[in-house]
Amino acid sequence: MTSLPVEMDVIEIAGAGGPEALTPARRPVPAPGHGQILIRVAWAGVNRPDVLQRMGAYAPPPGASDLPGLECSGHVAAVGPGVTRWRAGDAVCALLPGGGYAEYVLTAADHALAVPAGLSLREAACLPETCFTVWSNLVMRGGLQAGERFLIHGGSSGIGTTAIQIARALGARVWATAGSAGKCAAIESLGATAINYRTDDFVAALRAEGGADLILDMVCGDYIARNLKALADDGRLVLIGSLSGSRAEINFAQVMTRRLTITGSTLRPQSDLAKARIADQLRQHVWPMVELGKLRPVMDEGFALADAAAAHARMEGGAHIGKIVLRVGGE
Ligand SMILES: NC(=O)c1ccc[n+]([C@@H]2O[C@H](COP(=O)([O-])OP(=O)(O)OC[C@H]3O[C@@H](n4cnc5c(N)ncnc54)[C@H](OP(=O)(O)O)[C@@H]3O)[C@@H](O)[C@H]2O)c1
Repeated sequence: MTSLPVEMDVIEIAGAGGPEALTPARRPVPAPGHGQILIRVAWAGVNRPDVLQRMGAYAPPPGASDLPGLECSGHVAAVGPGVTRWRAGDAVCALLPGGGYAEYVLTAADHALAVPAGLSLREAACLPETCFTVWSNLVMRGGLQAGERFLIHGGSSGIGTTAIQIARALGARVWATAGSAGKCAAIESLGATAINYRTDDFVAALRAEGGADLILDMVCGDYIARNLKALADDGRLVLIGSLSGSRAEINFAQVMTRRLTITGSTLRPQSDLAKARIADQLRQHVWPMVELGKLRPVMDEGFALADAAAAHARMEGGAHIGKIVLRVGGE
């Protein structure tokens, strides 16, 4: 095994602020503790929660790295005591508690998965955060079944493009909202019916089909009351984000008379064990979808690690479709 450097390049958050708060710096290379692996990062995925963390609105949980970055691909550089799943040199992609915007990062060995056959490291870096989030909310929490009507908001996002493909692979009928013709075309190419929310009403569109059995929502705010109207009786609303704010006034009589379920989750604060359980389900159910070609990350632009600020500016500009990535050690 090649020896590890003492220091590494990272991107720090210099203080809550705009993309310019992302600052190149040097940090010590961390050593893996019990049950952990150290990954030499090839590519790091960029996610909306990274933007929220940079703005000071999504603090890392206790014990997590203060560096941004919730997912990566790369090679195992070292394993900690008690790790039997991986050996140095294995190609992996992994969910991270933070710290992905760096040359090396630590994570729990059970939160890493093998790079699926047929996928590049660049693509594999984009799987963990979206697949953990989508599977745990769509299936483990939302209980999506074949033949059900499923609506996802933000259909062209990293989360949205993943949710559409997984729901289609499960045999659901899928509708997805987006704010431009180009984004709607991308959604249609994934096999979903697109609704341009600037010109069309998603409530009317879903009611005309009998209502949605499940809605995955990242908008919240004034979408909550409209989501309840768009649900079929016994429908489920799963909240994973609040891009329009996290407060809403709703009529709970509807929840009772139409037997609706409102739930939601955030991934990052969950226990290591809960994340390992989701990883097990991904190995069993989602990685086969990737290997059969039913799920492939939709790739937007790649940026060098040192240009992380430009990557955040692209995400906040809102023109992207699918996943933005940072090139760290990858080709
Ligand atoms: N709960 C969890 O554990 C978890 C984990 C990861 C991500 N998330 C959440 O999932 C969402 C998607 O994440 P992502 O990384 O895939 O981000 P992203 O690619 O930036 O997606 C955000 C999408 O939301 C749409 N949107 C709708 N209303 C918006 C508004 N008011 N402001 C900005 N965008 C708006 C945008 O599309 P249009 O242009 O079509 O509006 C955009 O495609 C985020 O809210 C994120 O915080 C939650």
